[in-house]
Amino acid sequence: MIDTHIHITDKQYNEDRDEVLTTAKNEGVETFMAIGCDKQEITNTLAFIKSHPEFYAAIGYHPIEFESVTDDDLRTLHEQLQEDNVVAIGEIGLDYHWYPDNKEEQEVLLRKQLDIAKALNLPIVIHAREALDDTYNVLKDYPGLMGTIHSFSGNGEEALKFIELGFVVGLTGPITFKNGDNQKDVAKKVPLDKLLIETDGPYLTPVPHRGKRNRPEYIYYVAQEIANQKGINVEEVLEVTTSNFKRVFLGE
Ligand code: NI
Repeated sequence: MIDTHIHITDKQYNEDRDEVLTTAKNEGVETFMAIGCDKQEITNTLAFIKSHPEFYAAIGYHPIEFESVTDDDLRTLHEQLQEDNVVAIGEIGLDYHWYPDNKEEQEVLLRKQLDIAKALNLPIVIHAREALDDTYNVLKDYPGLMGTIHSFSGNGEEALKFIELGFVVGLTGPITFKNGDNQKDVAKKVPLDKLLIETDGPYLTPVPHRGKRNRPEYIYYVAQEIANQKGINVEEVLEVTTSNFKRVFLGE
């Protein structure tokens, strides 16, 4: 299994990070993509992956960072993106849940980072919260870019629009929630070769551990629910989503 989205340097893992990773490996998670999406997390993530060869990284500025990110920071990001095992830019995007009044500033930051992705020919990890339509309209302006719409929150029809643009969509813990109808619909309608599984750890913990801190091996519950929705077995979900990650982010 590959946990394709984990904030491994988050302080919630500070007490027992080694134990978390050892357990995850024993449970079959052999590869990870760490996310660094503010200045401190980017620095920490780049340092962390140097001593953890089982980790790839995606780095970039989250939309809620729109006030603090300077053009100098973006020049630095451009350099950082060329370090070993950094395979994507993200999570970048639009977040109208936390910042409904700063749509334009967020879009400016997003477009600047999409330009970097294009220049470096890197895949992207998109964060879109209560902003799917505007995200779609921005991405439409960048044909040829690919990547994932992380922790996709829309329904199956909405997901298929992003698939048409060349993206895959990531499913997380909420697919296991009682109110996870949209995510279940995505699992049903989107072809398996366009899906990724991710924890977004330490957040979005699936049932039956909901309410606790997330752990990489819990992606199994996400895979299990995708399998239920598609009426296939979980091994097939794990196998295909693993090769999806390798295709999109490692070019394999
Ligand atoms: Ni995240």
